[in-house]
This record gives sequence, structure tokens and C-alpha cells, in this order.
Amino acid sequence: MKISARSTPNIALIKYWGNRNDGLRLPAADSLSMTLDSPCISATVEASDHFSVQSFDERGTENPQNEKSIARLKKHWELTRNYLDTINRIDGMPDAVSIVIRSEIPPAIGIASSAAVFSCLSEAHAGFVSLTREEISILARLGSGSAARSVFGGFVTLENTGGTDIGSAHARQVAPETHWQLHDVIIVPSREQKKVGSTEGHAMASTSPLFKERITQIPRRMQECTDAITKKDFEKLQHVSEEDSLDMHHVMEKQNPPLKYLSEETRRIIREIEALRKSDHLEVLYTMDAGPTVHLICTDEALKAINDFADVQKGCIVFRAKVGGGSTLV
Ligand code: PMV
Repeated sequence: MKISARSTPNIALIKYWGNRNDGLRLPAADSLSMTLDSPCISATVEASDHFSVQSFDERGTENPQNEKSIARLKKHWELTRNYLDTINRIDGMPDAVSIVIRSEIPPAIGIASSAAVFSCLSEAHAGFVSLTREEISILARLGSGSAARSVFGGFVTLENTGGTDIGSAHARQVAPETHWQLHDVIIVPSREQKKVGSTEGHAMASTSPLFKERITQIPRRMQECTDAITKKDFEKLQHVSEEDSLDMHHVMEKQNPPLKYLSEETRRIIREIEALRKSDHLEVLYTMDAGPTVHLICTDEALKAINDFADVQKGCIVFRAKVGGGSTLV
């Protein structure tokens, strides 16, 4: 039996940074994101006598995964089986699978390709057994914490549920994709692969003297962000999400070793957007994940001005997305 699925990245408005259990990717705090409708990853999974992975890039050319990413995909498969065993759903699951991944996302440029890959694979794996959306989000989390959120469309939290076992953090939808039509104009200043990925970064988060304080602020920010989304209050969303993104980067910069993901280009784009939104009264906010890429989230009314701004950024690649529906079987 062959099972195919597709998925997309999400952009965090309240960021996930640091784990309480690195091996199981149980986050230290809750997070909240908007699922995007593009770019897309698709995957086909088939029972096989041994685990294998093949992947193709946006042009359809085979793009062999390096050893590290094959090991991560294999670990995800093993954790998937462990989790299904703990919830008594292992029957019907093959012992090994061959995986074919097709990606439209240039890797490691800060638009969450791992979130799309692991949510997509989890959606496909769940096709062998029958799981709830929350259970699929747990499978996705085992490959990449933020991937849990791409299992749902619209506005989505990744929440800790109290326990310490493998299933004790899952995603939940706050509002569907039809609730608020926001756009994400993604400006990528550099296609250079980042040196330190988020898996290694999470593991060192607690070495930052700012980490504890960040964790104490998250429940308030989650509440403000949820309220802003529910009431479609853009100004409130802007304040809390920019506060949280900048705070995460401060924490990262003080980690040991320090992680400096933002570049001079990132800071210039932020300054220009702050000036533009003030002069033209635009509903736009900026947020950055683990890379120099700037996500400009804006309303329908602001979209033209933000697209015009993005189009004149020299040497940058621009992606355009809007709120999307999350992973699905195809
Ligand atoms: O899911 P991971 O392990 O790649 O971590 C994602 C971390 C951030 O992108 C920086 C924040 C987030 O919540 O997506």
C-alpha cells in the first residue's frame, strides 16, 4: 500500500524555543503559529523490507539527503512506532517504509522546511492506522516541534498537556483558515545554509541567562496572541508577536555558544518596515525564525504596499503565502 500526503510550513507568532525533553521534543513552553498555504511538500510512503529515503527538489531533480537528515528521518520513524505502540495502534503499521519526498522549499532558508516535511510524513504514516488530528500532531512533533502545528490549518497552538510521556504535547486549532485572511510576504536575504540548526539550538537554549524570564512571559503572550486572533485585532497581534520574536533572538544571542541568526539585511528590512507602516498606516508585522528571513504578515489592505516593498529588495528572494489548511492525504 502506498500513501501520499502534502503539507506546508507555518510561521510562529509566539515562538517555540527550548525543550523540557530534547529527545522527545517536548517543548519548554507553548507556541502559536499561522499555517501557510505554500510552498508545498509532498511525500509518498510505502511498506518496505528496509527504511529508505529519496528526495527531489523544486525542479524534480533528485536531491540526496545527507547522513544527518537521513538519521533524523529514521529516528522519527522509530519514535513514530514507539508512540503508536504506547497508544496500542501499532497493528497495521509496517516494520519499515520507503519514503519519497518532493519539496518546493529551498532547504535551510528559514521557512520551516522541517515543519512541512515532518507534518507531511506524519499525515502519510497515519494513513496506515487511524489517528485523530491531535495524535497526528504528536507524530509530527517527534520529528520537529513546530511540525506539530502544520497538521492543522489556520491559527494553531502547540500545547503542553502536563505529563512527561511521549504524547504530552500536541497541537490544537485556535481558529480555522477562513477566520482571518492574513498574508505572509517572505523576504529571504540569503540562501546560505545555516550553520547551526534549531535542533542543536533548542538543546542549548537553557544556557541563556534570558531563557527563564522568556518562559515566564509565554503564558501572557499566548493569551494576548489568542485574543488578538479571535478579535482580529491586528495592532495587538503586531505588538505581542514582534515582542516575542525579538525576545527569542535575544535569548539565542546570549546562549552558549551564541546563535546570531539575524543579519544586517534583516535589521535594515525591519527598520524600513517600521518607517513604512508609520508613514502609510499599514497593518503589517515582522517576525523571524531561526534565520535571517523576514516574514511580513499583513492584511489584505496592506498587501499591495508590502508586495511593492518586497519587490525592490535587491539580492533577496521573495515568497508569497497566505493562511493555509494544514496537512492532508492526497
Ligand atoms: O521545529 P524546530 O525544531 O525546527 O524549531 C522551530 C523553532 C522556530 O522556528 C525558531 C520557532 C517556531 O516556533 O517555529
